[in-house]
Amino acid sequence: LLDFCFLALLCVLFPVLHLSSFLTPMSVSTEEFMVIGPSEPIVAVLGGDITLPCRVSPAMDVENMELRWFRSKFSEAVFIYQSHQEQREEQLVKYRGRTSLVKDFLTLGEAAVRIHNVQAFDNGLYTCFFRMGIFYEEASLELKVAVQWRTLSGEKLLTFSETQAQDAEGLLDPESAHSCLAVSDDKTSVTFKDSPKSSDDGVYSVLGHEGITSGCCYWEVEISNAKKSEWVLGVCRRDVERKGWYQESPEKGFWVVGMYENTLCSLPGNSKLDVPIPQRVGVFLDLKEWDVSFYNMTDSSHIFSFSLASSSGTLFPYFRLRSGDVSLTICSGVGGPVQTPVPLNNPPCSSEDPVSLSGQEFSSGCGVDGDLPGAESPLLPCGPEAMVASPGAANSQG
Ligand SMILES: *[C@@H]1O[C@H](CO)[C@@H](O)[C@H](O)[C@H]1NC(C)=O
Repeated sequence: LLDFCFLALLCVLFPVLHLSSFLTPMSVSTEEFMVIGPSEPIVAVLGGDITLPCRVSPAMDVENMELRWFRSKFSEAVFIYQSHQEQREEQLVKYRGRTSLVKDFLTLGEAAVRIHNVQAFDNGLYTCFFRMGIFYEEASLELKVAVQWRTLSGEKLLTFSETQAQDAEGLLDPESAHSCLAVSDDKTSVTFKDSPKSSDDGVYSVLGHEGITSGCCYWEVEISNAKKSEWVLGVCRRDVERKGWYQESPEKGFWVVGMYENTLCSLPGNSKLDVPIPQRVGVFLDLKEWDVSFYNMTDSSHIFSFSLASSSGTLFPYFRLRSGDVSLTICSGVGGPVQTPVPLNNPPCSSEDPVSLSGQEFSSGCGVDGDLPGAESPLLPCGPEAMVASPGAANSQG
């Protein structure tokens, strides 16, 4: 009985003893806490909303604390709550107007920042930082942005960040390939059969197997030797002329980016894209908002967007090898299926296509602050060679 009493007494005393340890002269703050973030990555759907929650332990009111969510550096603030209000001065421009604080449980020690209209660059690591007086703690959390991936076998949600794992789903249409091109057995990859032949052979291109008629669609292409070769990828209309020599332009039904004369170009206006050469390109086709956007998937940065004509009709993924030791591979396994169930509460892209991500929000993200898509890419002219195929070669064809 005595032992039991002693134990019980210890248990009662323990929190008191524990607390008193903070009251030593060395410790200035009255309360210490730990910050705890989600142990698993949070999955968000491109264009949707997501909350990034953190809590303190032991639970205590955090209303009077400074709460900050930031990216890789403290100064890269996603959201700051200080003196009971949102502080916008230090906030990164790309989060301005897209974030809010979920305040419901502040008194219980829980805070979450909500990000609206999730974009590709939201993918990655975050830190939540809680400060009271001079005492602060932080926790890290990971946000994975997922997109709706459309393949022959149906649609599934895939995250950006996981590494590619090729699967055998045939995405290229070998029937559509130029005779000098070899499409891999699993139909995910295209390369030259032999070393590139003379330019008399015309344009070496191949189409995706499946035309896209509505909704939103996304695929990712890995380019081997991207910097030292010439390649083109994007979408084209069903009825384009691909025999012999042709040039790719929106007027002719091609919306592409590619390496021309060792320079990355988008073709409307024959324009040089002043960005580093990407090795993995994500192509996001939105047939509700009528645009196609290209992303550097290494860091989810935007490369270029085109507005499409709503009369474009069915569009096909388009791939072209121009020169060099190059292959293009569609990485249908970029993300692998996401394990965590994700509520698709954002409005569907079109009524016929109920599981697609919301194109409306996505496309508004491409043209930040109402700019035209691609307005953020400084455009410089490419050489005339960039668009017009050699007339000599064209002549020799006919
Ligand atoms: C895009 O990708 C390449 C390589 O894949 C990388 O070196 C480059 O810095 C990336 N980022 C931007 C913003 O272009």
